[in-house]
Amino acid sequence: MNILVAGGAGFIGSHLIDSLLAKGHTIVCADKLIMGRQNIAHLTNRLDFKFYDYELAEQNLVDKIFAENKIDAVYHLAANSDIQKGGKEPAIDFNDTFLTTRALLEGMRKANVNKLFFASTSAVYGEMLDVELTETTGGLMPVSYYGGAKLASEALISSYVSMCDMSAVIFRFPNVIGPRLTHGVIFDFIKKLKKNPDKLEILGDGTQCKPYIYVHDLVEAIVQLTENFVPGEIVYNLSVNSEGTTVTKIAEIVVEELGLSNVYFAYTGGDRGWKGDVPRFKYDISKVLSTGWVPKHTSDEAVRQTVRDAVAKVNN
Ligand SMILES: NC(=O)c1ccc[n+]([C@@H]2O[C@H](COP(=O)([O-])OP(=O)(O)OC[C@H]3O[C@@H](n4cnc5c(N)ncnc54)[C@H](O)[C@@H]3O)[C@@H](O)[C@H]2O)c1
Repeated sequence: MNILVAGGAGFIGSHLIDSLLAKGHTIVCADKLIMGRQNIAHLTNRLDFKFYDYELAEQNLVDKIFAENKIDAVYHLAANSDIQKGGKEPAIDFNDTFLTTRALLEGMRKANVNKLFFASTSAVYGEMLDVELTETTGGLMPVSYYGGAKLASEALISSYVSMCDMSAVIFRFPNVIGPRLTHGVIFDFIKKLKKNPDKLEILGDGTQCKPYIYVHDLVEAIVQLTENFVPGEIVYNLSVNSEGTTVTKIAEIVVEELGLSNVYFAYTGGDRGWKGDVPRFKYDISKVLSTGWVPKHTSDEAVRQTVRDAVAKVNN
């Protein structure tokens, strides 16, 4: 297949491209390179890889991609991934998370492309702290602009599926970590401890608890589920097979992997890291497990492996 990967130069998108290329697909990647070019630098000279440095909220640019390439399917991963930054400037989420979806759907409609795979998030559920979230849990009330823009994207996708006879698979990811990740709590802790190995400031009270999935497990699920997909619209909660990892546990793992001891944890207090952060959530993943996919790492294992990779990178 000839596949458009929107946001393909990012952390998850670049791993997805590696996997799709290995399966023999041809890739058109479009991305405005917020995170830089390093994740796709190894692909530059390949004949089965084409790149557009485009703003994907711009309809005319998106239309140009569809006019210049015969696209069979779209994987849409373009979005703002700096939730705290978006919290200070809502226009970022509106543009990068929502308007990219609108432009891609319109481009697909005009070019008669009918398969869309969308990277959504647990943030669409809002704050349903102790509810076991299934794909049909209702009353979704996001508490961040990011979650709002993703839920609005899902709604728009649903309308295009119905109006244009498209098919869509929506994946609601939890926290995704692994090689090529550049930001988030693990990196904050490593940076802070490199500066001061005696004391670590931890946002909130440390009990915030979320599932972390290793990026290779996530990509394997996406590829598997999109290869064997059934026409229509399907939503999957995609996550690990275990409880999540608390922020304090992440701090302990980072301390261990850095070979430190007697580090004083200074909690800033409160039940969350920042406004718009959901302190904990629980996913029911029986739907995705029923497809035969099994994640290879638990949440704690994913965290430890990511810390090891990051520490090795920092030390080199
Ligand atoms: N990483 C996670 O923990 C996580 C969790 C839930 C959902 N997701 C979703 O998965 C997808 C990929 O996330 P990621 O962690 O790889 O993020 P990322 O920031 O590494 O990648 C996103 C890519 O999208 C591109 N992009 C953003 N806005 C664009 C625009 N307007 N035009 C063109 N390109 C644009 C960026 O340049 C970047 O390369 C996103 O949709 C994100 O919302 C990620």
